[in-house]
Amino acid sequence: MKNIGSVKEDLSTEKRVSITPECAKKFIDLGFSLNLEKKYAEHLGIDDKEYEKNGVKINFSKDEVLKKSDIILKVNFPLSNEVNLIKNKSILIAQFDPNLSKDLINQLVKNEVKIFSLNLLPRITRAQSMDVLSSQANLAGYKAVIESFSKFEKAIPMMMTAAGTVPAAKVLVIGAGVAGLQAIATAKRMGAIVFATDVRMTAKEQVESLGGKFLTVEGSENLETEGGYAKEASDDFKKKQEDLLKETLKKIDIVICTALIPGKKAPLIIKESMIKSMKPGALIYDLAASQGGNSAFTEADKIVDKNGVKIMGEKNILNKLPISASNLYAKNLFNFVLNLCDKKSKEININLEDEIIKSTLVK
Ligand code: NAI
Repeated sequence: MKNIGSVKEDLSTEKRVSITPECAKKFIDLGFSLNLEKKYAEHLGIDDKEYEKNGVKINFSKDEVLKKSDIILKVNFPLSNEVNLIKNKSILIAQFDPNLSKDLINQLVKNEVKIFSLNLLPRITRAQSMDVLSSQANLAGYKAVIESFSKFEKAIPMMMTAAGTVPAAKVLVIGAGVAGLQAIATAKRMGAIVFATDVRMTAKEQVESLGGKFLTVEGSENLETEGGYAKEASDDFKKKQEDLLKETLKKIDIVICTALIPGKKAPLIIKESMIKSMKPGALIYDLAASQGGNSAFTEADKIVDKNGVKIMGEKNILNKLPISASNLYAKNLFNFVLNLCDKKSKEININLEDEIIKSTLVK
């Protein structure tokens, strides 16, 4: 089990790669051999020679890589034509929702392929270096601010000029998890006045430490699970949150939506009536678009205009900074594979007593 391979993703939907030249070298130093599909990261401006310099064999077709690799590293779950080619008894590691692609998963299981999803990583300290959910959400939160600010037709920071004062833009971040906290920090750095809300009360202190103002839904319980995730809100909570946000949204210029509940459709937080009360020129940037969206009218990869309020949905914002996202994703993957290796023999050892390995093994 010393032969790692990776193939190009479907470039129409995914620009990230799983193995960077830097991580390739780390794998080779660990004793692995690496096979990559030719022109593997050419779309990111990374020439095959960059990999070859680090000892990678990179002149293969997709079929050759999939047929010969003991361990396949990917960003997304393989397509059906790729699944057919994956070698029996190999290992597949990618970031995907195991509830989707069930038929393809079963097909791989029949061929005794061990499948790991990095979406299932436990949020424990030891797993932080492998935590793709955090590394990618952090970049998504940053980029959501940059993208929305670039579409906003006014200045962001307050400016006092001889010609008059430009007021600071007011930003509301809905959901203060990893993406939301980075959005708050980025918006603050650019001079915006930032408000944020979340169903988890622990988020209040984190928002305030970044200089944001936390909007608390009064008289509501803390909706946090033991694992630190959000629970689905009750109807009573939703009503109180709606009343609170309706008033706030009247003065907000830009809303960044990041609210998610694991395994469920994203909660619909900004209703049609709330959008009607917003100022023309205001903008809603919905990072939850691929899970159904936090806002009414959200459509993935579209800008919808409702009475002068723009609603922007994004399916895969990481395609807008694929080099940074690949660098972190590849490091997360390397650390995950390192943890799969026995400490002494450095051979792959699927130790189901290890919480990280046990939680991520789909089948
Ligand atoms: P996520 O992407 O699942 O959700 C984003 C945010 O939306 C969460 O803060 C959630 O509470 C919030 N949300 C859900 N429904 C909402 C609603 N109706 N209204 C307002 N907000 C709503 O969360 P993410 O970013 O993956 O973080 C989940 C937890 O994991 C956090 O507590 C985070 O601090 C923790 N974490 C722990 C790590 C560790 O190693 N210990 C590493 C990374 C995250």
